[in-house]
Amino acid sequence: MSYALEIENLCYAYPDGTPALHGVTLKVKKKKKTAVLGTNGSGKTTLLYHLNGTIPIQEGLVRVMECPVCKENISRIRRMVGLLFDNPDNQLFSTTVFGDIAFGPRNMGLVEEEIETRVDEVIRRVGIEDLAERPPYSLSLGQKKRAAIAGLLAMRPQIMACDEPFSGLDPAVAAQFRTILDQLKEQGRTLIYSTHDVDLAYGWADEVVVMKEGQILKSGAVDMLRDESLMKEASLQLPVLAELFKNSAYKPRTAAEASRILSGLGFKAASDGAGL
Ligand SMILES: Nc1ncnc2c1ncn2[C@@H]1O[C@H](COP(=O)(O)OP(=O)(O)O)[C@@H](O)[C@H]1O
Ligand SMILES: [Mg+2]
Repeated sequence: MSYALEIENLCYAYPDGTPALHGVTLKVKKKKKTAVLGTNGSGKTTLLYHLNGTIPIQEGLVRVMECPVCKENISRIRRMVGLLFDNPDNQLFSTTVFGDIAFGPRNMGLVEEEIETRVDEVIRRVGIEDLAERPPYSLSLGQKKRAAIAGLLAMRPQIMACDEPFSGLDPAVAAQFRTILDQLKEQGRTLIYSTHDVDLAYGWADEVVVMKEGQILKSGAVDMLRDESLMKEASLQLPVLAELFKNSAYKPRTAAEASRILSGLGFKAASDGAGL
């Protein structure tokens, strides 16, 4: 099997000497939704920043669709991996949303007609037709996040890496944003995102990577989040839906299964299974 991402023994310390990653080794499957879960400071952002060369590799290896991340390959890597920053202000610079979205395709050297086609397409896809002429600074956080993701999609990356994609969004806007990301996955893209939210990871991921202090404690299918000792080691709580069934005869492996059991028992679903 070939993987979307292969990371080998990645180590990183920030210029001030703060260590952030210690020997991270990981394979991320194509066309899956992978959650990188960990408490604040566990190294999630630093790991994601390595996926498109936002920070340079100090030690170890990162391969994207079998292409090593290094200076020489950087433009190819940036086309393959769209990185959505935690704070959209870090990726919106133009005077209009349209200009921001056009920036990536223009940088790729596409002709003006193709740029416009792409921008129009992504603007419709993320539902921001009414924002195209607005200056990005005037938008709400949810609107900024959609503008930022539109800018990435205009480059048609195969992999979307999102740093805390729902942080600061209210539940309705977060749900909208999840739908956009789900559609990307349905279209065959690989999605990797960071979160400190165990319920989100349990309900909205195929695979999970649990991090602590710059290392991966465990990675694999999402049902591992039912493992109390693993979660304790990572200083995380059990997901609510896992806690609920901990001592019951039912043994749902996923949040979706747990939600189905609850509905069968006559509980009305209070959420969509993603814990939001
Ligand atoms: N710009 C920076 N300079 C120095 N240390 C940093 C910087 N950014 C993050 N760190 C440190 O690196 C470690 C990992 O941080 P980070 O990757 O941001 O974790 P997470 O995203 O899981 O919260 C933490 O100890 C953090 O304080
Ligand atoms: Mg972070």
